Amino acid sequence: MTDTYYVTTPIYYPNDVPHIGHAYTTLAGDVLARWHKLQGKEVFFLTGTDEHGKKIEEAAKKAKLSPKTFTDHLVPKFKEAWKKLNIHPDRFIRTTDTDHEQVVQVILSEVHKKGDIYEGHYEGYYCTACEAYYTEKDLVDGCCPIHKTKIEKLKEESYFFKLSKYQKLLLAHYKKNPDFISPDHRRQEIINRVKEGLQDLSISRTSFSWGIPLPFDKDHITYVWFDALVNYLSGIGYLENTQRFKKFWPANVHLIGKDILWFHAVIWPAILLSADIPLPKKIFAHGWWTFNNEKISKSRGKVINVDDLINIAGADSARYFLIRETPFGEDGDFSEDALIERHNNELANKLGNLVSRVSTLAEIYGLEKTTSTLSKKLKIKEIEKHMESLALDKALTEIFSFIDASNEYIQAKKPWETKDKKVLYELVNAIKDIAILLSPFVPETAEKIAKTFHATISWESLQKPISPVKIKKASILFNKVKKDG
Ligand code: MSP
Repeated sequence: MTDTYYVTTPIYYPNDVPHIGHAYTTLAGDVLARWHKLQGKEVFFLTGTDEHGKKIEEAAKKAKLSPKTFTDHLVPKFKEAWKKLNIHPDRFIRTTDTDHEQVVQVILSEVHKKGDIYEGHYEGYYCTACEAYYTEKDLVDGCCPIHKTKIEKLKEESYFFKLSKYQKLLLAHYKKNPDFISPDHRRQEIINRVKEGLQDLSISRTSFSWGIPLPFDKDHITYVWFDALVNYLSGIGYLENTQRFKKFWPANVHLIGKDILWFHAVIWPAILLSADIPLPKKIFAHGWWTFNNEKISKSRGKVINVDDLINIAGADSARYFLIRETPFGEDGDFSEDALIERHNNELANKLGNLVSRVSTLAEIYGLEKTTSTLSKKLKIKEIEKHMESLALDKALTEIFSFIDASNEYIQAKKPWETKDKKVLYELVNAIKDIAILLSPFVPETAEKIAKTFHATISWESLQKPISPVKIKKASILFNKVKKDG
């Protein structure tokens, strides 16, 4: 049986066009999906949009559209953005998809049957931008701790999920599965907070109507996070494709940003425990990007959208930069200059020049088979280890050490003077391996390189010497980009 790999991203609120923050997680998901596919696994990669709730209802009202028409206009922007970045999910789920709505109702019924839902009154603070409930002690000067905006006090009839009942079980799960929440310091934060105690969660609303009705009380709509989290089940066919569901669940990893870890590491597992569904294997929370060292903010014009990102130096350079620039899990800063710097120095100079020099010389002098000393410098096991532990940046660093080693080799051996076909053969094989390993990160570039050297992008071709065929000089992989000003 083939090994499977199921990776998810958060589903995004389609209240505006996607920006770098949305692109980052989706890109990481695509890189992981491609990597595991390369290794021969059967992969499912899920992303999508979170379309219910007050935030969307209010944004739609402002645009004078119905919520569904409003999201129908914005969802294509997400799909187009992912296409432009060469991101190819196996499914793009919308929480307005009928199958998803059914699954949410089924899960609610399961949890209800279990006796984990009760009726009561909610009184407290709600931030619509977060779509989250806060207690008085969470607030900062009466404002949302994240958005710093005045927060509304709510009082309404509501159903509650017995989250508090799961405190012990959750703590036991974290203890038994130390890899469940990553990175480590965030895991510790969650454990500390859960130890302080859990409050039951209000899971329904009556003050507005844009949501999925509760199956046991049609006057209430489902709290948007209860609805959204269930996408990880409906996305792989919890109801209508049980074979696929069995094949891929539990998910290997839910990739998320650090701000939504609580929902994924506490609320989601508690819902699953209640519904008797196995828990995902890992929740990985990455850090946040700032833009020129300032918080990303649409209203202050401090935002970089996917189109801006690609326009700087192309899709592969954007992909490369986002993964390489900052350790996966930590915060990072985006600047156009930093992207251009990496594009020019690493992609154009190091990789581009290597490919151009070797292909030019191979066209002139040809290749001759030999055993390679250069390829011994490629640390595939290390790269695999980094990918397993989601140290995506480190995997790239390791591949680039081998590119450096290959550049040093050509410099030392001077095949333009010696006309040594064997050295060129070694270099062509090195480049072929580089293209294979880089393919999840910069897929377009990897394909171009593979074509030049008549190589196949596959795990089986890795470190398998190619036959010394005739090679034609490669066209330029990366044109250098000038910095503004
Ligand atoms: N709809 C919820 C997620 C539901 S998942 C079941 C949501 N949507 S969101 O559109 O507001 O944000 C989605 C993701 O974007 C989050 O993981 C968040 O961390 C990420 N980012 C938003 N701004 C970001 C940065 N500046 N940097 C990195 N990621 C950021 O939350």
